[in-house]
Amino acid sequence: MAAGNEGRLHQTLKRVLNDVKPSEAEIAAAGAVSNDIMGRLRKVVPKNVEIILAGSVARGTQISGNSDIDIFLLFPRSMDKEAMERRGMEVAKRITNRKNGESYVIKYAEHPYLQLIFRKPPIKVDIVPAYKIRDSFEMGSSVDRTQLHNEFMLGHLTTRQKDDVRLVKAFMRFHNVYGAEAEREGFSGYLCELLVHHYGSFASVLGAFSELRLPLCIDAKNRKVTNDPDAFKRFGSDFIVIDPTDPERNVAAVVSRTALARMVLASRRFLANPAAKLFYGAEFGDDRSGGKLRRIAGRMGVDAYFLTFRVPDISRDIIFQQLGRLAARLEKRLDDNSFAPALSLYNMDGGIGVIAFFVNRYRILSVARDGPEVFMKGACESFMKRHKTTYVRGHRVVAIERSKYSGPRDLLRQELKNDVPSHLKAARLSVNSVPEGVAKLVYRKYVEATTL
Ligand code: CTP
Ligand code: MG
Repeated sequence: MAAGNEGRLHQTLKRVLNDVKPSEAEIAAAGAVSNDIMGRLRKVVPKNVEIILAGSVARGTQISGNSDIDIFLLFPRSMDKEAMERRGMEVAKRITNRKNGESYVIKYAEHPYLQLIFRKPPIKVDIVPAYKIRDSFEMGSSVDRTQLHNEFMLGHLTTRQKDDVRLVKAFMRFHNVYGAEAEREGFSGYLCELLVHHYGSFASVLGAFSELRLPLCIDAKNRKVTNDPDAFKRFGSDFIVIDPTDPERNVAAVVSRTALARMVLASRRFLANPAAKLFYGAEFGDDRSGGKLRRIAGRMGVDAYFLTFRVPDISRDIIFQQLGRLAARLEKRLDDNSFAPALSLYNMDGGIGVIAFFVNRYRILSVARDGPEVFMKGACESFMKRHKTTYVRGHRVVAIERSKYSGPRDLLRQELKNDVPSHLKAARLSVNSVPEGVAKLVYRKYVEATTL
């Protein structure tokens, strides 16, 4: 870090921590709710079921406004899986007090669990059935690992480091790389905890990211960088944080290249100038987003193509995966047909999914199409027979052919008639102009993507 910045960094972190650390009142309220629910559960579960508080509230690493509670019901390993899940859901439903305005929804991770929604204070409580295990070799599903994470972190994080975890989570959240969901493909809470454990503090975590070199393999249990070539092969990744509670798991497996790269840049930026403004990231208003997008496209000299869909009220993860996959496929099709987008974005909310491509304004008559390598005699001959104008580039025959599409609009319209993922319904294509609600979704992603 540049000399003289330490003092400013310290000041800024003090100020930010004041915002992101839950107040005594918030911590007390979450404590009261978890005691209340755990007390109710204790009355209805059999003696051989253990009840534990897990997640960030249990570890003292939650950030303010996010005191959602994770309670695990740990069943004996001897019970069969179906019975365990059924009993777990039964007791969770039974303790929901509807007269108190409480309600529940059934959620799915690796197996079903129940989310109890408390009204006063407005806190969500996940009640998750799992097996009681002592180490990862006994594990039935990855949900079982949470109790081991809990023990490890409770035994290893100091009080000061817990606040540093809060700062890391908040910094990542403000820079849109926090969370393991498909929407972010970023850093999970547990990963933040392990990074602070490994590097020691908020400042050293950011310092490490700002100097990051890949490949990197961290053995978090022993606080060592191993860079074991075998691990890179085994996990099929060049960014690995081995779970101290399970040597077979890379806790950083879901972190996308983009999320990692954005964290590197954000860390450098902030350490070079540790001002609160840079911690909090971009602030922006998204009113009149339609006009803003038109001006952005105008400046770039491109057209904005918007594909909008109606999406059902199911897990965001699934919708985001489908949008992401479709966006990647269309981007490749555009690129293959000489319409490579300058920028692609996708987002969803309020029952609407949208994919946007910013593509140069040109009309296309011909495209160069790669054919086989000359060594493949038969394929090569038939390719040359099928095309009027061919030439050789490297080892390959290339044909110049009439483009099937005169512009991106034809191509996208055609693609929407082909197979669109199951949850993306009522596809519509529009160019340069969309309803304000859709424009907002795109503009938010634009700001997220272009600001660090
Ligand atoms: N967990 C996990 N891998 C995930 C999600 C969750 O191992 N992709 C486990 C972790 O042990 C985690 C716990 O389930 O601590 C609860 O998950 P969640 O509430 O998502 O994370 P928290 O650590 O509680 O972080 P946050 O403050 O964001 O709630
Ligand atoms: Mg949590």
